[in-house]
Amino acid sequence: MSGQALAPSARHIAARAFEGYLRAGDTAVDATLGRGRDCARLCELVGETGWVFGFDVQPQALEETRALLAQRGLLPRAGLFLMGHERMAEVVPPGVRLAAFNLGWLPGHDKRLTTRTDTTLQAVEAALALLAPGGALVVCCYPGHPEGKREQDAVEAFARGLPPSLYLALFHRFVNGGPGAPSCLVVERLAPAV
Ligand SMILES: C[S@@+](CC[C@H](N)C(=O)[O-])C[C@H]1O[C@@H](n2cnc3c(N)ncnc32)[C@H](O)[C@@H]1O
Repeated sequence: MSGQALAPSARHIAARAFEGYLRAGDTAVDATLGRGRDCARLCELVGETGWVFGFDVQPQALEETRALLAQRGLLPRAGLFLMGHERMAEVVPPGVRLAAFNLGWLPGHDKRLTTRTDTTLQAVEAALALLAPGGALVVCCYPGHPEGKREQDAVEAFARGLPPSLYLALFHRFVNGGPGAPSCLVVERLAPAV
């Protein structure tokens, strides 16, 4: 894609969703900490009165995230767990405003330690059940590798099956970007009309 393009990439859609849904005082989840960049952004958006629960299965990811948050003065806003995201309901209470997934492997590390379809689906379902009315899930998928393609197909199929009276599901992808073009799924839990 050209650097001049105005059409938003999958990551731009995710970044806009973070900004659109989160307000000071909210609770957010970063389901895939990696190097901590998304977590840092979520911590900025929830402010001093908010809280971010972060998960990763690699100690290196927690160390890198902790270092980044400390450097930016954001560490008091986050709880970081060395735990699979599929177990998030053990520590996260209901009322989450935004849950972010950036699938794949830890950048610069072992590509075999990637997120996996079965646990990703379990985690997406767990996160959906924890959302506050009006809250959202944001899932960035990378179908350029075989497990990433399986994950994308699985989360998209899951979202297609959600009842439209309860959820809005948006799937964003450049359809002429080749088979590896990243995608972003946003699922919003509709707030009841008052
Ligand atoms: C693409 S990286 C995330 C990048 C991150 N959002 C950032 O801003 O730097 C994906 C991460 O998911 C982690 N991961 C893999 N399986 C996981 C699981 N079951 N639960 C939580 N994290 C997992 C990997 O260890 C890797 O660090």
